[in-house]
Formats: sequence, C-alpha cells, structure tokens
Amino acid sequence: MYKICVIEGDGIGKEVVPATVEILKNTGINFEFINAEAGDETFEKRGVALPEETVELARRCDAILFGAAGETAADVIVKLRKILNTYANVRPVKSYKGINCLKDNIDYIIVRENTEGLYKGIEAQVADGVYTATRVITEKACKKIFKFAFDMARDRKKQGSEGKVTCAHKANVLKLTDGQFKNIFYDVSKGYHDIKAEDYYIDAMNMYIITKPETFDVVVTSNLFGDILSDGAAGTVGGLGMAPSANIGDEYGLFEPVHGSAPDIAGKGIANPTATILTGILMLRYLGEEKAANNVERALEEVLERKLTTPDLGGTLTTYEMAQEVIKRLDS
Ligand code: NAI
Ligand code: MG
Repeated sequence: MYKICVIEGDGIGKEVVPATVEILKNTGINFEFINAEAGDETFEKRGVALPEETVELARRCDAILFGAAGETAADVIVKLRKILNTYANVRPVKSYKGINCLKDNIDYIIVRENTEGLYKGIEAQVADGVYTATRVITEKACKKIFKFAFDMARDRKKQGSEGKVTCAHKANVLKLTDGQFKNIFYDVSKGYHDIKAEDYYIDAMNMYIITKPETFDVVVTSNLFGDILSDGAAGTVGGLGMAPSANIGDEYGLFEPVHGSAPDIAGKGIANPTATILTGILMLRYLGEEKAANNVERALEEVLERKLTTPDLGGTLTTYEMAQEVIKRLDS
C-alpha cells in the first residue's frame, strides 16, 4: 500500500487533482490518499501558505501529488522542493496523437537543476538604484544532476531511445559559473561511455527545440534556463495543459503539473486534466508500478486520439468527463 500526500492547492488544482486521483484509484494499485492544505486559500484562512503539518505529512508519505498554488506559489511549491531536497526537476516533452504538436515524433526529457543557480534567491540592493542576484553553481549539485541525467539516458536507451544527453549553458559569457557547469558535464560523461554527450548554448538550444526537437533524448540545464526552456518546449507539444513534471531527490518524489492555478478558467470545470494525469503516470513509474503506468498512458492516448477532451484541446468535455473516458479504457 502506498501513502500519497495530496495537495490540491488553488484554482484548477482543485479540479485536475481529484480527476487524476479518481483514475489512480481505478488502476488496481492499493493507494491511501491523504489530503493536505497549502496555497492562497490556506494563507487567507490561517495566515500561512504551507502549514507545518502539510510538510510533515509530505515527509511521511511515499510520494506527493501537488496541483497548483496561486500567488503564494513561491512560498508553497518552490519552498516544498527545497525542504524535500528534490534536486532534479524532470519535465518530459512528448507529442501525442490527436494533439496539435509542432512535430509528431517529439520525445525527450528536460532535466532541470532544481536547487541553485539564479533561483537560490540571493538578491540585494548594493547601491542607490542598483540591484543584484547571485548565481550559485556548486560542483556537488552539478555532479548530482549530471549523473541523474546520464542514468536517465541509460534507462531510456534500454527502452529504445538513442542514449544521448545534451547540456545547455551559456559558458561563453558566464565563463566561471557555466564554464564549470560545462566542464563538470564532460567529466561526468566519462563514466558513461555508452551514452553520447553534446552541448549547446542555451540561446541556440531555444531555437533547436523548435527546429529539431525530434533529435533530443535527455536535455540537462541549470535552474532558470530549465524553467524557461521547458515552458517553451511545452508549447511545441500542445501547451501547458499537456506538461507534467516530477521533482526527484534521494528521499522524496514530488509530482506536479507545470501549469499554475489558471484563475481565468478556475471553477468552470473545463481545465485540461492531461498534465496532471501524465504527472500521475510519472508517479506510478517512480513507485515502480510500470504496468499500471503503461495502462493509464495507453488509455489516455486513446482518449486524446479520439479528441474526447476539454475545450483547450478542441473537445467539448469537462475535466470530470475526460477523466471518466480514461477510466473506461483502463484494463482491469
Ligand atoms: P497558469 O499556468 O495558471 O495559466 C497560464 C494559461 O494557461 C492560462 O490562460 C490558463 O487558463 C492556461 N492553462 C493552464 N493550465 C491549464 C489547463 N490544465 N487546462 C487548460 N488551460 C490551462 O499561469 P499564470 O496565469 O501565469 O499564473 C496563474 C497563477 O498560478 C499565478 O498566481 C501564479 O503565481 C500561479 N502559478 C503557480 C504555479 C505552481 O503552483 N506550480 C506555476 C505557475 C504559476
Ligand atoms: Mg515555470
């Protein structure tokens, strides 16, 4: 039996998470889902966006499924990633049939360093009208994230992928921080002779995810670059409603769709649950439930291909109805 900490959060988090939980309950896997609070509403009610009992519950569970927070996102999800030391942010980019994608053969994973870089949050006012942010790159965090990326490429190669890691950086300008980032990447690559290693400048990389996305397998980059690159990549495979993510550390796995609380559509029942369902599939794989993960993915693929979807994907169904269509197609 797996204990899952469920944090719906705000806005459409309250719609896409229950829809996904319903699907997971129908996989035949024995789950105990325990709800916990966090986000804007929690802050209004209790004066704290991420209550201590939510963090404690997250620590006691086998995995955490998170929806979205609103304006308190930095105090909730960014904080939770730090507290749980989930150093790798894994963002798959995959074209599914029936979805309006840039190309129909896109299938790669962006691995974003999740703990340092410019998002370390070290900002200061150093003089009148002058503000700075410190970009932190450590050998320790680099080694960890690169090993993670190469191990992932190795796993994917077993499933038939090319076996390649592409490092994106800006070493020509950020000579010390990204110079080291790139050097350490090639040092770590020496331990993986079976996996190809290549690198691009982040600005060129931003073009290549548009012009040749089908050539990538695993892409690894630093925190801010990864944040920007992955939203752009989501746009090539159907948008934010299609983009799942996993935050992985040595002890914890925290799973969340890439999108936010979407206040413009919240409460209408039309949020696309696909990003969160794909996130649930990542959680199943993390727990070692490969068969159940494949089952849900196949059912979801059928639903997408038949356009039994929410309006953002061209369909007419509600969030709930779309989830029911997936459930109907699960092998029992
Ligand atoms: P957003 O991701 O909430 O929405 C951007 C656009 O995409 C909106 O037009 C929205 O309707 C659409 N969209 C997003 N998810 C969708 C889905 N599943 N189905 C259909 N359409 C979808 O980002 P935005 O508008 O920049 O931020 C809204 C709030 O969310 C803010 O308060 C922000 O702080 C928070 N946020 C939270 C995040 C988190 O908790 N991880 C991440 C990003 C933003
Ligand atoms: Mg983002």
